[in-house]
Amino acid sequence: MTTDILPLDPVSLRAQFPALQLEVNGETAVFLDGPGGTQSPQRVIDALSGYLAYGSSNHGGLFLTSRHADAVVEEARQAMADLLNARRPEEISFGQNMTSLTFSFSRALSRTWQAGDEIIVTRLDHDANISPWLMAAEDRGVTVRWLDFNPANCTLNLADLPGLLNEKTRLLAITAASNAVGSMTDLGTAVKMAHAAGVLVYVDAVHYTPHALVDVQAIDCDFLVCSVYKFFGPHTGVLYGKFEHMESLTAYKVRPASNHAPGKWETGTQSFESLSGVKAAVEYLASIGEGETRRARLVQAMARTKAYEMMLSERFLVGATAVPGLKVYGITDIERLAERTPTFAVSLAGFTPAEVAEYLGEQGIFVWDGHYYAIAVMERLGLLDKGGLVRIGFAHYNTVEEVDRLLAALTKLAQSRAV
Ligand SMILES: Cc1ncc(COP(=O)(O)O)c(C=O)c1O
Repeated sequence: MTTDILPLDPVSLRAQFPALQLEVNGETAVFLDGPGGTQSPQRVIDALSGYLAYGSSNHGGLFLTSRHADAVVEEARQAMADLLNARRPEEISFGQNMTSLTFSFSRALSRTWQAGDEIIVTRLDHDANISPWLMAAEDRGVTVRWLDFNPANCTLNLADLPGLLNEKTRLLAITAASNAVGSMTDLGTAVKMAHAAGVLVYVDAVHYTPHALVDVQAIDCDFLVCSVYKFFGPHTGVLYGKFEHMESLTAYKVRPASNHAPGKWETGTQSFESLSGVKAAVEYLASIGEGETRRARLVQAMARTKAYEMMLSERFLVGATAVPGLKVYGITDIERLAERTPTFAVSLAGFTPAEVAEYLGEQGIFVWDGHYYAIAVMERLGLLDKGGLVRIGFAHYNTVEEVDRLLAALTKLAQSRAV
């Protein structure tokens, strides 16, 4: 673990989240469902209600509340440009969520494909970065190739990527981190390989963004999507695209909407209250770090977040070895924690994932069970029709005490089977 990073203080951060005070049967709830959606700090809640209280309006009008809506959109765009390190705010478009953005963008991008072309998707991805591309490929007569992962540690077989790329390949749709098993992708390498073959890269960073620094310029991806409700904000999706692509591609839009990015990618009326919350969520993240600019604060904040979450992961993985019958999927090597998020898919011998999740839920410990739309992951692991796995997802607002409470509850459940 890096030692020159100041430790994150979970106590002062937790105090900002009203939902973290929730009690279940007299005990404080433990929110380990962050990969499905995180809680929001007070400043995000205030931003949403503040927008509505100030006076709502559509944007683009010549009066006060409409100008306010314009400002809200522009500030949210700039905030997301800082978070992702976009070259300019026009590279950021908003939409309902990542899935909707990806469906509509896949429609636009696939207009550039010819029958006989090829695209690549991965088995480590959430279905929202698979099905839109499968359907677009079907519509255009395009062949789909699959990049597999190694089931032993659930990391992508990037070494196989060059063998899938050829002169007919148009797109690589790839995850930055798996929402099921937490494995991160070496995106720098994947993008270099794809670009060397002239292939565009669309990155799903929905699960990655709350846990590590996104830098679209360093990654050099062509497109990247994320969802603000996974990083402490409201339910809004974000699409980044290199400006030249976003300007030149044809968007599905109504007349006479502008033909320029980003407006042409934002169909209908946006949720301005949510966009107020987008800025507040980025400001919250930035407040975890220090520095002259918001981007500098974000860089430090995400380094602190990552170091803290690696500490939680280590505590969980070490403790997990003592829970009878508990199997952890994905990277379990303590030396390789930098390559995963603190999201763990597990099984407990003798119990279905639903039984484990329900038992933990009764103790006030919130975890998911099933496939969480990582359909291809569960299929590859042979678990899709077996109830999937239990997903334990830590975030920076979780504590060591919560990790221990989870491990104690799992141990108690495991021992109840033995009796
Ligand atoms: C990795 C990943 N990709 C995509 C999605 C879909 O995101 P949204 O709910 O914004 O459509 C999710 C949601 O859980 C996810 O975890």
